[in-house]
Amino acid sequence: MIVLENVCKDFDTEGGCFHALRGVSLSIRKGCVYGIIGRSGAGKSTLVRTINLLERPTSGRVTVAGVDLSALSPAELRRARRGIGMIFQGFNLLESRSVAGNVAFPLELAGWDAARIAGRVDELLELVGLGGKRDAYPAQLSGGQKQRVGIARALAPEPKILLCDEATSALDPQTTREVLELLRDINRELGLTVVLITHEMAVIKEICEEVAVLDAGRVAESGAVFKVFTVPQSPVTRELVASVMTRDIPQHFAALDFLQEPEEGCGLLLRVSFLGDTAAEPIISGVVRRFGVDVNILYGAIDHIQGVPYGTLVVELSGNGNRDAAMEYLRNLNLGLEVIGYVRRNLGASVAGVV
Ligand SMILES: Nc1ncnc2c1ncn2[C@@H]1O[C@H](COP(=O)(O)OP(=O)(O)OP(=O)(O)O)[C@@H](O)[C@H]1O
Ligand SMILES: [Mg+2]
Repeated sequence: MIVLENVCKDFDTEGGCFHALRGVSLSIRKGCVYGIIGRSGAGKSTLVRTINLLERPTSGRVTVAGVDLSALSPAELRRARRGIGMIFQGFNLLESRSVAGNVAFPLELAGWDAARIAGRVDELLELVGLGGKRDAYPAQLSGGQKQRVGIARALAPEPKILLCDEATSALDPQTTREVLELLRDINRELGLTVVLITHEMAVIKEICEEVAVLDAGRVAESGAVFKVFTVPQSPVTRELVASVMTRDIPQHFAALDFLQEPEEGCGLLLRVSFLGDTAAEPIISGVVRRFGVDVNILYGAIDHIQGVPYGTLVVELSGNGNRDAAMEYLRNLNLGLEVIGYVRRNLGASVAGVV
């Protein structure tokens, strides 16, 4: 649906040329809710603005529904942009127009006749739950209601794509939840592709299917939210998801005596992640039985991503069994597996001593 190929965007600044996007390639499936995350200044807004060519790439290509946007004439581009709605943190409503007038605005620009506009506006206000507010003015609305107007206005020309740049950042948590539910309903009912930038990781975790992590104008990693959040590959992703994923090693482990190199008789500390309804117990007993290693469970937690349970166990492997084969076995079970480090033995006792 949306394909970015090696997109670069340079800005001329007083200090010289600034590379805001440095070769971004992404593919966003039709009907997907796609998240874009990254630190402030990573290039998220710039990236999203290239999708409707509000920002023209310095090089690279943006293709939407098979059409290379940069090859279009100004008139063709205007038409193509009607297929791409956008909502913002600041709502950008016209204060002098009523709710209905705001929603009607893009349709007036597109040359719809009055009767058709009136019908469409009513339909949209029902869709976003503002049927009773059609004659109110923006100043009389709450933040959540304003964003609903923004959504109705963005959806008015029947776009196939909705770009959301920090659309819930000005809202309180409850209102954020309501607006997200609305976006998800719209995504499901209308089959709309939603691209969502947010610094709220809980939002991504809740409604996005896929996510891209931007770091200084590059894609650090991308893929299914499930995967990226549970087994983050890059330091920036680890840092970003830390707030919503219980990934940290419990504090008392930090005090342990970690070794640079494995030494005779040391313990191996592993973080094992379980997705879905995989049961931990048979896996642990399987490792003990098959490979003769001792498994000491040090920490366990269960979290949820989009309703699917996700468990983390921190275990220590020790004893004289075949540790490498045990690791290989765990890896083949398709579990998330991460080596935390080697520690001096009798970990259980020393942890108990620290707690
Ligand atoms: N028109 C411009 N001229 C010069 N530099 C720009 C321009 N637009 C963006 N930049 C720079 O490009 C970088 C990326 O900006 P962008 O707005 O895309 O970041 P962002 O990831 O959306 O950040 P935030 O989370 O703070 O919104 C920033 O360093 C910004 O200063
Ligand atoms: Mg931004």
